[in-house]
Amino acid sequence: IAAEIGEHASFMHKEMFEQPESLRRMLSGRLDHRFATVRLDGLGLDPRDLRSFKRVKAIGCGSAYYIGQLGASLIEDLARIPADAEPASEFRYRNPIIEPDTLYVAVSQSGETADTLFAVQEIQRKGGHVVGLVNVVGSSIARACGGGIYLHAGPEVSVASTKVLTHMGVGFAMLAVLLGRVRDLSHSDGARILAGLERIPDQVREILDREAEIGAVADVVADATSVFFIGRVRGYPVAREGAQKLKEISYLHAEAYPSSELKHGPLALISAEMPTVAIVPDDELVDRNIGALHEVSARQGPLVVVTHEAVEIDVEVARIDVPKNERELDPLLMTVPLQLLAHQVATRLGRDIDRPRNLAKSVTVE
Ligand code: G6P
Repeated sequence: IAAEIGEHASFMHKEMFEQPESLRRMLSGRLDHRFATVRLDGLGLDPRDLRSFKRVKAIGCGSAYYIGQLGASLIEDLARIPADAEPASEFRYRNPIIEPDTLYVAVSQSGETADTLFAVQEIQRKGGHVVGLVNVVGSSIARACGGGIYLHAGPEVSVASTKVLTHMGVGFAMLAVLLGRVRDLSHSDGARILAGLERIPDQVREILDREAEIGAVADVVADATSVFFIGRVRGYPVAREGAQKLKEISYLHAEAYPSSELKHGPLALISAEMPTVAIVPDDELVDRNIGALHEVSARQGPLVVVTHEAVEIDVEVARIDVPKNERELDPLLMTVPLQLLAHQVATRLGRDIDRPRNLAKSVTVE
């Protein structure tokens, strides 16, 4: 196993650094610049089918669910179709109402997660249409769905998922463009997103190159016992996935909140001992997000901020600047420094990164 890891300290590290290459592979041949859309033949849906969906619902477990939430927000942004995400484990037990005009998307790295597979079968039993967003070719969920988008990320060994999550985000962006281009997404906006998607592999590389810088920031987090992650609207799923990654491999208590909810409870916990990691993209909500930084700072809470260079922040923070893409795609890029942050914190705490206690790579039992 050591040989396969090569120069890397863990499989997680190796897989994070495979992203630029694997993402390039995933995109290749799927972008249709002439018509500013994407080719996703594996879905088995023609334009008429694509237009008939009135809603999109992503289902998955763990990180796949959080990226499903990020994906739902991309679909609402680009295709203007109501979209949301739900943990497959909840969905399957609540006697869900299956709507014939909803496109269900089953999100799974392994394609073997029992809760997600059961949810797929329940949707089908009730006449719903479900497609897969799956990495492992020929897996149970991929086969059950029939149609879908393969992620082509290559094998992922580390329990903490990294590269596959980024691929899931790109998969959702492609689905959003496809659904958008049979509706109101203009040719120029479609072209803008395709160009943004093409920049992602290099921009991920730029983020990975800043690993040492992020290492310095990790000290703010590694000394704490509890960490808040906050984000608003597009940034909220990023915060949730960031908290998930940190708790999985560092065993620190990490909790994500929408920035706007801080004042409705969690502010009571902010102190010099409780750092907050804030997602602050340079978009139409930037002023509100900076307002949340003020609220934390006024209570002596240490701040780590994932943001863009152009954003001026007038309180003391440890900042991680990520390269700017299109506003719809920025949240996805912001998940990458949080992978590095979790890895650095877990390393400082001496954790067994590839074998976190109590967790399995894929949960195939109920
Ligand atoms: C397990 C893993 C998580 C993963 C989840 C879903 O709980 O520990 O890291 O996100 O399963 O796995 P899947 O293979 O369906 O994406």
